[in-house]
Amino acid sequence: MPRKGLGLAPRLRYLAGRARRIDVGSVLERAHEAAEEHGKWRPAIVVDMLWQAGLRNVGFQDYIDYDFAILNKAERATYMTHPVSNQLSQKYDHPDFRGLFQDKIEFDRRFSEHLHRDWMVVEEGNADAVREFAQRLGTIVTKEPVGQAGTGVHRYHATEIEDWDAFHRGLLERGELLIEEVIVQHADLAAVCPGTVNTTRVTAFFDGETTHILAVAQKFGRGAVSDQMTYGGFYTMLDDSGRAAGNGYDSHAHIHEFHPESGVRIADFQLPMMDEVRAFVDRVARVVPEVQYVGWDIVVTPTGPVLVEGNWAAGVYENKPSATGIRTGHKPRYREAIGF
Ligand SMILES: Nc1ncnc2c1ncn2[C@@H]1O[C@H](COP(=O)(O)OP(=O)(O)O)[C@@H](O)[C@H]1O
Ligand SMILES: [Mg+2]
Repeated sequence: MPRKGLGLAPRLRYLAGRARRIDVGSVLERAHEAAEEHGKWRPAIVVDMLWQAGLRNVGFQDYIDYDFAILNKAERATYMTHPVSNQLSQKYDHPDFRGLFQDKIEFDRRFSEHLHRDWMVVEEGNADAVREFAQRLGTIVTKEPVGQAGTGVHRYHATEIEDWDAFHRGLLERGELLIEEVIVQHADLAAVCPGTVNTTRVTAFFDGETTHILAVAQKFGRGAVSDQMTYGGFYTMLDDSGRAAGNGYDSHAHIHEFHPESGVRIADFQLPMMDEVRAFVDRVARVVPEVQYVGWDIVVTPTGPVLVEGNWAAGVYENKPSATGIRTGHKPRYREAIGF
């Protein structure tokens, strides 16, 4: 099959930017981790990491997260990596429309019919509306709309707030300008971690006619407001039927056979309503067709999937060999759908 390729210019630009940003300390630190974990010689790992980064589009974190130290060339070639994902975002997510995804308020406006929950914007002078909203719902989630990289989500209980003017002022000052109703997740998700809404990350490509599902990951929280790794969360990949591939893991060298709080075995997890999830992702992927490559965060609820957010600069979720025994990744699916 002919390959269109991603173009030399964006690749060179990316590499140049990368070389400038190389953090030698962090490479050595990560090489040390990998060498210890897999019983390898550190200098060999350093050279391999640099080689893979420079010539094979493998980020240092990719190298660590997907255990490249123990994979052979053919296995490595099946892995999706952050540099390649970044190039896909640049090529297939039109710059004029990225703002709709970047700003969570803009996003909620544009995708409102797919949220299936109430939400409002904090503005000067609307303390009464905030109080009414929070008291009606009991618990609320607030978000800093732009660029918080996994740390900008908060949770409040109306009964713990005494001074509503001060609360409202605090939200404005801290930039927590979006308030959302708390999503109620499906019982099968709550069984693993009831205190956090556990999202499913569906990475998809819309080619103008068809939505291709490239990879599906199930994230699990630890009781905090967010299931992101910055809040202690981890993930496992799901197959096309919604079945977990194996143990859970994160980017900080933790592997979870069981959820630490609930004790549920992660490999036994089965996401309900997988057909509905596919149909739902197909619907949302058509809302802004100019943004073709997206990491969708969705939640399966008792009545079907709802949308949390879409990430135009989709991250990568892949199989971790040391956690699951699976030594191949999803890149062939990306190649087949996108044609690079
Ligand atoms: N309305 C909501 N109700 C309950 N939990 C939520 C809600 N919105 C987000 N969350 C939780 O917070 C996490 C992060 O939210 P998200 O909007 O995806 O921000 P980001 O990923 O940019 O930090 C979600 O994955 C989910 O666990
Ligand atoms: Mg998210």
